Amino acid sequence: MSGGRSGRPTLVVTRRLPAAVEERLGQVFDARLNRDDHPFSAAELQQALQSADALLPTVTDRLTAQVLDVEPLRAKILANFGVGFNHIDITAAKTRGLVVTNTPDVLTDDTADDAVMLMLMVARRAGEGERFVRAGNWTGWRPTQLLGTKVSGKTLGLIGIGRIGRAVARRARQGLGMRVIFHDPYPPPAPVIAELGVESRHTIEAVLREADFVSLHSPATPETHHLVNAQRLALMQSSAFLINTARGDIVDEAALVAALKAKRIAGAALDVFEREPQVSPELLTMENVVLLPHLGSATQETRIAMGLRALANLQAFFAGTAPRDRVV
Ligand code: 8YV
Repeated sequence: MSGGRSGRPTLVVTRRLPAAVEERLGQVFDARLNRDDHPFSAAELQQALQSADALLPTVTDRLTAQVLDVEPLRAKILANFGVGFNHIDITAAKTRGLVVTNTPDVLTDDTADDAVMLMLMVARRAGEGERFVRAGNWTGWRPTQLLGTKVSGKTLGLIGIGRIGRAVARRARQGLGMRVIFHDPYPPPAPVIAELGVESRHTIEAVLREADFVSLHSPATPETHHLVNAQRLALMQSSAFLINTARGDIVDEAALVAALKAKRIAGAALDVFEREPQVSPELLTMENVVLLPHLGSATQETRIAMGLRALANLQAFFAGTAPRDRVV
């Protein structure tokens, strides 16, 4: 195994991580940190792949086939910080003999909390109300002021019911008394469906037609690209809301803008965007839209847990054992 001057493997950490994680990484590896936290360019990623034994990338690093094609390739593992790894060309990584790991489980609760928060925010007009107060426009309570949509007891439709979808289902069922329906091409076993108290639908279309709130929990893959397009948005009820905490390109953002403009749906609450950090300008002007900057896992506790999980994967790899979260 190659190593740095210290004899320890060299590791490039592409973004700032919580101090406790950076400290620990520095104890175990010859770690090169990104002190000013700038997003890496393709050239910087290639330099890291050529000069380090391992990379710890994040969602902002586009590890395309072209980037991974670099010669000579020194890196052996990409220990991704995050559960989603659609920013890494997995086929190319495999071809280049790179091991790829991710950080599942530790961010499930936070991301589910984020989805529920967005659902409540958009239904109860929380963003709008906050802007109203901050602008100094609140002159007093009125019985007809900023009336929103009741959430408790309504129907939530989940597209995807993996770890995060299930955590959202539990919150919605137990916390908000909602009826939860879902579609997933790989549905959980019947006992899990029974325990969650959710109802399966054979098609996405059936979920879209029936739900008061539609929440997306699919991974970003070629199959889920623009899964929610103009035709599918047209199936939603005009009183329904769309929530996305998964990945931006699962939704055709231009079609969503058109649906919102035409009032074909009541609103949307988005934590992720098709071209992050760019947001379709029309969305910025719409009051019935909640926009958050990819906050799904953004708590102190979870970002530390994600970092430590990536560290554990790296340690296992360099100890010659199978990393727990190997995806390739
Ligand atoms: C992360 C996420 O913040 O884990 C994921 O897939 O979307 C977020 O929780 C981000 O990906 C970190 O790289």
